[in-house]
Amino acid sequence: MLKLGVNIDHVATLREARYRGRSHGEPDPVEAARMCETAGAHGITAHLREDRRHILDRDVWALREAVKTRLNLEMANVPEIVEIALKLKPDIVCLVPERRTEVTTEGGLDVVSNERALTETRKRMNDAGIEVSLFITPTPTQIEAASYVGTQFIELHTGAYAEHFADRELREEELDRLIAAAKQAHGLGIKVNAGHGLNYENLPALHRVPHLVELNIGHSIISRAVFTGLGDAVKDMLRLMEGYSA
Ligand code: PXP
Repeated sequence: MLKLGVNIDHVATLREARYRGRSHGEPDPVEAARMCETAGAHGITAHLREDRRHILDRDVWALREAVKTRLNLEMANVPEIVEIALKLKPDIVCLVPERRTEVTTEGGLDVVSNERALTETRKRMNDAGIEVSLFITPTPTQIEAASYVGTQFIELHTGAYAEHFADRELREEELDRLIAAAKQAHGLGIKVNAGHGLNYENLPALHRVPHLVELNIGHSIISRAVFTGLGDAVKDMLRLMEGYSA
């Protein structure tokens, strides 16, 4: 069964728009996590950014207490956040590149150029009982480098697929890239997640990508929740994921 991890960063984004710098505020990302789990989500994802623009330190600790499924901490490979993760002990960390000027995580990790630093963090996380995922574009050299790092998972960056979805030819090219990447990673013994830019329209075609374990989806689910409520938004997405065969 294909699993759904819901990224709840945008719930915190909304809170911070009104309550930045305060010790309280709504909406509460922890309550959102509970509602996603009740609706059937298989995991909760939160990104503790260096600039703390949405998820705050107090959120990740409260999430660690509240999440009953799997907590996936998205993070940059920087000393401050690595130390927090080692204490927090999420079930898995997904290492992502981070630039302060970006609206959301825009590109994948350059694993090839950062193999040594990523390997060191991968080892430290694994020694603490935390699994590791690397967020990468579907490129053969990056996947090969990910296997040298010894990561348990990669998360394939579906941003280009989502961006080009409206153009049939480009969409097929991006799908082919994702299919080849998933096969390559699977062949190297790496488990495959995918995420970024996925929504209710572009999800069905992803059934063609083999070996997927989990999709991480945020913006589209939180957007729909404004109209339908979070529970229904999660259930609608889970329905689209039904029947996936790896
Ligand atoms: N996966 C990763 C690694 C991400 O950085 C993000 C965005 O925070 C997502 C998945 C979710 O992307 P979206 O909000 O576009 O669904």
